[in-house]
Amino acid sequence: MSESSINRWSRAGSPDRNEVASRAYKHPNPRMLFEVAAGLSAPRKELPPKYFYDHRGSELFEEITRLPEYYQTRTERAILEAWMPELIPELGTRALVELGAGSAEKSRIIITAMRAAGTADLYVPIDVSASFLDQTAAQLRRDYPGLTIEPAVADIAEGFERPRGLPHPAMYAFLGGTIGNFYPPAAIRLLSRVRAAMTSEDRLLLGVDLRKDAGRIERAYNDSQGVTAAFNRNMLLVVNHELGANFDAAAFEHRAFYEPINHRIEMHLVSTFEHEVRIPGIGLVPFAAGESILTEISCKHDRDSVAELFESAGLHIQIWRPDPQGLFALVVGAVA
Ligand code: SAH
Ligand code: AVI
Repeated sequence: MSESSINRWSRAGSPDRNEVASRAYKHPNPRMLFEVAAGLSAPRKELPPKYFYDHRGSELFEEITRLPEYYQTRTERAILEAWMPELIPELGTRALVELGAGSAEKSRIIITAMRAAGTADLYVPIDVSASFLDQTAAQLRRDYPGLTIEPAVADIAEGFERPRGLPHPAMYAFLGGTIGNFYPPAAIRLLSRVRAAMTSEDRLLLGVDLRKDAGRIERAYNDSQGVTAAFNRNMLLVVNHELGANFDAAAFEHRAFYEPINHRIEMHLVSTFEHEVRIPGIGLVPFAAGESILTEISCKHDRDSVAELFESAGLHIQIWRPDPQGLFALVVGAVA
């Protein structure tokens, strides 16, 4: 019996994990309720990828970064290690403001370079994953006692302001290729807001996953251990927990493929049979067999596509630094 068919029948019996999770729900986040209602009533169902990231989702992402197939993180780390000890003293960076910081593992390379240069004043990690961000900040405070750390829980797509009292030059870092999880208009809006916060001496350090052989990219999103599949399904558990929905995560299959026209991975959850999901405040959401929810896009870039995004956001590429194999690039952006 497949995993999904076991779970299909378990719903009739004693409370399963989802039902227990539903009881934890008290006050739904109105924004989430609105976004989930809009996304699941669209002709092509879609949910925003920020909903992967409760504490468990952040842990699963960390596991992804260690997978042999997921080349992005280790490639970006190698570029940072080779480059930051030289770049940071050149820029004189005194503050690091990081969007979507996560565990900030790679950010430590930048902070260490700032410390070595004697300019490490402030680190502002920003993330939606509140408890994971707390954990990250606590670990960094232990490891960098002299550094001021001011974490901020925020949705970076919602708005962005320069942190008050920010020392300059500041570096705004957006690593990991997370910019690729935004549709181009949203990516431009986000970069424009960063640009509006930047002074002429500040810099943006952007990590982008590069266009390459589609097979290589697809393997990174279809790992042999099923961690990416668990990460994908975790979004349904987040919706259950936050909105009291009764998604049976095992009723959905993970699917990720490269879409060459828009140069992006699309990650879906595909319903394996016809059923309905109950979401308080939304109602019954029908799923046909084979119908999918688009949970994430991950756009892949080249220098021209980044230059286009930058130009639209009022930035220009100051330095383009890919790894020797051309898998991933770090880009330094400055106010145009
Ligand atoms: N920068 C880290 C983590 C990347 S994972 C790295 O390079 O490894 C993406 C991170 O962005 C997660 O920590 C997630 O919680 C955060 N994130 C995703 N969407 C976000 C949003 N809309 N606003 C703020 N943070 C977001
Ligand atoms: C966070 N982001 C850059 C990752 C990516 O590759 O798009 C999220 C991810 N999705 C599946 N695996 C990793």
